[in-house]
Amino acid sequence: MTGLTVTGWGTALPDRIVTNAELAESLDTSDDWILERTGIRERRVGGTTSELAIAAGRAALERAGRRGDDIDLVLLATTTGDRIVPATAPTVQEALGIPGGAVDLNAACSGFVYGLVLANGMLATGARRILLIGAETLSSITDWTDRSNAILFGDGAGALVLEATDDAGDLLGWDLGSDGSATHILKCEHGGTIEMDGKEVFRRAVRVMVDSSKASLEHAGLTIDDVDLVIPHQANLRIIHSACQKLGIDHERASIVIDRYGNTSSASIPLALVDAIETGRVTTGDTLLLTGFGAGMTWGSAVLRWSR
Ligand code: COA
Repeated sequence: MTGLTVTGWGTALPDRIVTNAELAESLDTSDDWILERTGIRERRVGGTTSELAIAAGRAALERAGRRGDDIDLVLLATTTGDRIVPATAPTVQEALGIPGGAVDLNAACSGFVYGLVLANGMLATGARRILLIGAETLSSITDWTDRSNAILFGDGAGALVLEATDDAGDLLGWDLGSDGSATHILKCEHGGTIEMDGKEVFRRAVRVMVDSSKASLEHAGLTIDDVDLVIPHQANLRIIHSACQKLGIDHERASIVIDRYGNTSSASIPLALVDAIETGRVTTGDTLLLTGFGAGMTWGSAVLRWSR
């Protein structure tokens, strides 16, 4: 048996903070409305996806005590690559001195969970170490004149070093899904900006998070009572609270970074995970439930044992 274990983690965020009050200077909105309807206070804006991915990846390598040439594969989850072709992962691979393969994957906000599950499969078929990164510059595809979208999104990156184990590893269960019939509710065409039916996304998001979380727990042979901490995609605090309530877990047991970073798509789950690690909310032996959803629609959940 071969599985994965997490040996390093890191994040990167642009310095520039955009508060709700600053958005309200140019949009017909207010700090109170945004905070109450989404849980967001501010977001970070700036840089390129590769810059953020490289910085987060470098931090994760340092934390793992690894160098670039220890890594067999860079898996970069992003919807906002630096360009259409080539992918952004080779830019990261070059900057970090990684000799292995490099590929982007786009499952929108579910991308990091998809990456974790794919990495587990790669480790099972011979890779020894993988650098998994979620990085986004959603500010580059946001219509800053549209108050229903501009308030939600931000830029950032988070990364994990994943290493092969000689046992079944720490990914205890997972669930991935997609419903291409819902493409129209959240999308961005080439050269365009994000278009979204917010209410419909909200309605479906809660349902798929709950169903997918349950499926991944069942795959792991566990129940929600076994979960120590939920690491949810950070799209709207009300979505997280509603999903926790339906799952039967106190929302206090969810890691929250949306107040500081907004929705950073593929980066939001690793940002929430690393925040939980660095604030001492994760201890050895904990069971973590990572769960996300996004454009596609896609969704993904993973049950991860924390063995650090
Ligand atoms: N500031 C002030 N008022 C706003 C506003 C803003 N930024 N955006 C919308 N409004 C207004 C609307 O015009 C509407 O006014 P009306 O009642 O006079 O028509 C009212 O607020 C309610 O709008 P509504 O769209 O019903 O708000 P909502 O509670 O559904 O919140 C979202 C809107 C976008 C925050 C919410 O639907 C959401 O978060 N959806 C999920 C989005 C998401 O997760 N996307 C990413 C998925 S990965």
